[in-house]
Amino acid sequence: MTSTVDEPFTTAAARSAQLETEILEHPERFRVLTGDRPTGALHLGHYLGTLANRVRLQTAGVDVFVLIADYQVITDRDSVGNLTGNVRELLLDYLAAGIDPARATIFTHSAVPALNQLLLPFLSLVTVAELQRNPTVKAEAEATGGRSTSGLLLTYPVHQAADILFCGGNLVPVGRDQLPHLELTRLIARRFNQRYAAGQQVFREPEALLSPAPLLLGTDGTKMSKSRGNAIELRDTEDRTAALIRRAKTDSQRTVTYDPDNRPEVASLLLTAALCAGRSPVDLADEIGDRGAGALKAVVTEAVNEHLRPLRRRRAELARDPEYLRGVLADGNARAGGIADQTLTRVRDVMQMIY
Ligand code: TRP
Repeated sequence: MTSTVDEPFTTAAARSAQLETEILEHPERFRVLTGDRPTGALHLGHYLGTLANRVRLQTAGVDVFVLIADYQVITDRDSVGNLTGNVRELLLDYLAAGIDPARATIFTHSAVPALNQLLLPFLSLVTVAELQRNPTVKAEAEATGGRSTSGLLLTYPVHQAADILFCGGNLVPVGRDQLPHLELTRLIARRFNQRYAAGQQVFREPEALLSPAPLLLGTDGTKMSKSRGNAIELRDTEDRTAALIRRAKTDSQRTVTYDPDNRPEVASLLLTAALCAGRSPVDLADEIGDRGAGALKAVVTEAVNEHLRPLRRRRAELARDPEYLRGVLADGNARAGGIADQTLTRVRDVMQMIY
C-alpha cells in the first residue's frame, strides 16, 4: 500500500501509543487474544515480530490468550499437511520463546466447541457484501489462483471475531493488514449488543495494538518465508543457520553500508544482526566497513546463533517431553473451553434460546 493518507492506520498507530502507556499502568485491564495458523515451525521474523511482543505483554502482567488456529488452516488450502506435527512445532516455539502456560492460555480452535458455535449468531450480523469487501479475503481469494473461494474463506474474519470475543479479548496485536478484521470484530460486537442484547454490553469492542517491531526480511532481501528458503527457523541448528546465511544474497559492492533502498539484501542482513545483538544497523555496517560480505555474514551468524541459543536449548529440552506438551494444551483447552461455555450460555440467554 503506497497511499499517502492511510487514515485508519494513522489513527490506530496513535491509539496504540496511548495503549502502550495504559498497559504499563494498568496491565490488569487488558486481555490479549492473538494466534497463528499451524502451518509449520516459526522463523526469526515471527520471533522478533510477534512472539517477543507477546512475551513482553505477558511479562508486563497482561492476561495473554494464544490461539493455535487450526480451523483457519483449511480456509485457503485443500490439504492441511501434517496438522498434528505442526501444532506441536508451534507449541514448542511458543514455550521456548517464553510464553508461560502458568500465566498465558494456549489453546486450539477445534477443542473449544462453544467458541465455534458463536459463528452462527455472528454470521447473521454481517452481509455477504461486507464480507466480499474485506481486503484480506479478496487477496487470499485471488491467491488461490482463480479456484472458487470456499464459504469458509469468505467467513473466516467472522470466525476470527469469535476467537476474540469469546474470551472478552480487548487488545489484539496486529499488523496493518489485519486492521480490517479487527474493524469487523468491533462491528459484530456492536451489532450483537444492539440487535440481540437490547443494548446490554455482552461483548466489548477490542482495540488493535500495532506491532512495534520492524519487518524483518529473509536472507535474500525478500519477505521471510519458509517456502522461499530464506528463513532462519527457530528450531534450526547453529550449523544450518550458518549455512543459510553463507548462501545469503549480497551485492558486488565491497564496502558494507546500511542502505535499505538501494542495497536491500545487505541491509536485511545488517538489520537481522542488529535486532539480535541489540545494536544499530548503521553502527554494525561502520564496523564491518570494507571487510566485505564474508565479514558481514560472520557477524550475522554469530549474532543470530547467540541470540537464539537459550531459546533453542529450551526448545530441545521441551521436545523430549511429549507428556508435558500434551498437558499444556489440555490445560489451555480446558480453560478456554470453560470461558467459551460461559460466554455461549450468556449469548443463548440474551437470545432467549434457553428452554
Ligand atoms: N489470522 C491469524 C494468522 O493468520 C491467526 C488468527 C486466528 C488470529 N484468529 C485470530 C489472530 C484472532 C488474531 C486474532 O496467523
